[in-house]
Amino acid sequence: MTAVAGLAGRRVVLGVTGGIAAYKAVEVCRRLVDDGAHVSVVMTAGALRFVGEATFSTLASEPVHRSLWDIGPAAEPPDGTYSSPIPHTRLGQQADLVLVCPATARLIGTYAAGISNDLLTATLLATRAPVVLCPAMHTEMWEHPAVQDNLALLERRGAHLVSPGEGRLAGGDVGRGRLAEPVDVLDAVRRLLTPPSLAGLRVVVSAGGTREPIDPVRFLSNRSSGKQGYAFAQVAAERGAKVTLVTTVERPVPRDVETVPVETAAQMLEAMRRYADGADVIVMAAAVADFRPSQVAEGKIKKGAGVPVVALERTEDILADLGQRKRAGQVLVGFAAETSELRANASDKLAAKRADLIVANDVSVPEVGFEHDTNAVVVLVRDGREVEVPLRDKRQVAVAVLDVVESLLGPTADRGGDQPKGHGGVDGDSR
Ligand code: CTP
Repeated sequence: MTAVAGLAGRRVVLGVTGGIAAYKAVEVCRRLVDDGAHVSVVMTAGALRFVGEATFSTLASEPVHRSLWDIGPAAEPPDGTYSSPIPHTRLGQQADLVLVCPATARLIGTYAAGISNDLLTATLLATRAPVVLCPAMHTEMWEHPAVQDNLALLERRGAHLVSPGEGRLAGGDVGRGRLAEPVDVLDAVRRLLTPPSLAGLRVVVSAGGTREPIDPVRFLSNRSSGKQGYAFAQVAAERGAKVTLVTTVERPVPRDVETVPVETAAQMLEAMRRYADGADVIVMAAAVADFRPSQVAEGKIKKGAGVPVVALERTEDILADLGQRKRAGQVLVGFAAETSELRANASDKLAAKRADLIVANDVSVPEVGFEHDTNAVVVLVRDGREVEVPLRDKRQVAVAVLDVVESLLGPTADRGGDQPKGHGGVDGDSR
C-alpha cells in the first residue's frame, strides 16, 4: 500500500474456519491489509456459515477462495509469474505466512493427520512458510487430550500457536478456548514477518498525557490518547527490542512489553530516569503537562466557597533532562506538537533539548496528532536530514520513525547480539 507499511510486499494466506470467532478474523484481515500485506482469504464451508464471503472479499486483497475447484481469474496471481498448473497448491507455495484464525478442532486434527480434504488443508500441506494457528473452541474440546496432542505435534513440526484466552464462548458458556485478541494474533504475524532489526536493544517509550491533580477528584491534563506511543512500543517489540512503556493510559500491548503506569509529570520523570540509563533508544511520545497546580487541595474544593484561583508552576522538562544525561550511543527521540511554524519550532526543540530526532506534527491539521488514529509528521534529524511522513496510521508513522532511528544506530551487524549498550559509531553529543 505504502512505502512505510510494515508488511508491504508480504503475502499472507488467512484461513478462516467455522466457528463464531470467525467474525474477529474480519478485523485481523483488515489490519493486515492496512499494514501493506497482500492477503488471500481461504474460507472453509463451515466459515461460510458464520461470516459472509462478501465481507472478506471486500477487505482482502483478492476475492475469497473457497474450494479446491476455484479456477478463473481470481485463482491467477496478479503479477503473472504463476507457472504451476495446480491451483490447490499455489496459495501455499506463494505464501510468506499462513495464518489460520480461528482454527477449529477439526482443522487442527486434519492438519495434524496430514489429510488434505479442502482448499485450506491443501494449502497448509503445500506451504513451507511459517504457519500460525489461533485455536478457538469450547473449553471441553480445547482440553481434550486429542486436541492437545495434535497441537503439541504441530508445534513440534514448527507451527506457531497463538493460545486462546478465557472469556465468553458460543452458547453463553464461559471458559478457556476463546480466540486470542486480534492484537495478539497480529503481533504473532508481524514478528514472524519482521526482521529482528532491534534485537538485543532496549527501547523505552513514554505515552499519554500526564494528569496533574488540583484536588482529590480533579486534574489538569491534555488530549493525548497515548496511541502514538503505544504504536512505537509495539513496532519496536516486533523488531525484537526489549521494550519498556512508561504510560499514563491503559491500552492493549504485546505481552512482553513491560508497562510502567504513571500519572503525573514528576512520576514520569522519575520512571524515565530509572529506565533511561539502560536504554539504547528513548522515545518521548508522551504529552507532558508544562504546568501543574502549585498546591494540591487535600479535600475536594467545594463550589460554595467561591470560584477558586488555581496557581500553577512549571513541571520538569523530561526530554531536556534526558538530553542532559544522554550517553554516547543512545538515540533520543522527542516530539513537537505545534500549531504554527512547524519546522522552526521543532528545530529549536531539537537543539534545546539535545534530542537526536524530533518528530514534529501540526496538531491544528484535521486527523493529525492528539486523539486520532492517524498522524502526519516531519522528522528532523540531528544530522540535518528531514523525513516527511504524510497522513498515515500511527503504526506506520512509528515504522517510518524507527527506520530513521535505526539509521542512527548503524548497521544491525555492528550492534552485537545481546549487548544492551554501546553500538559504536554514534556519538550522542555530536551535534
Ligand atoms: N516534554 C517533556 N517534558 C515537558 C514538556 C514536554 O519531556 N514538561 C517533551 C514531550 O514529550 C515532547 C517534547 O518535549 O517529546 C516537546 O513537547 P511539546 O509539548 O511539543 O513542547 P514543549 O517543550 O512543551 O514546548 P511548547 O509547549 O512551548 O511548545
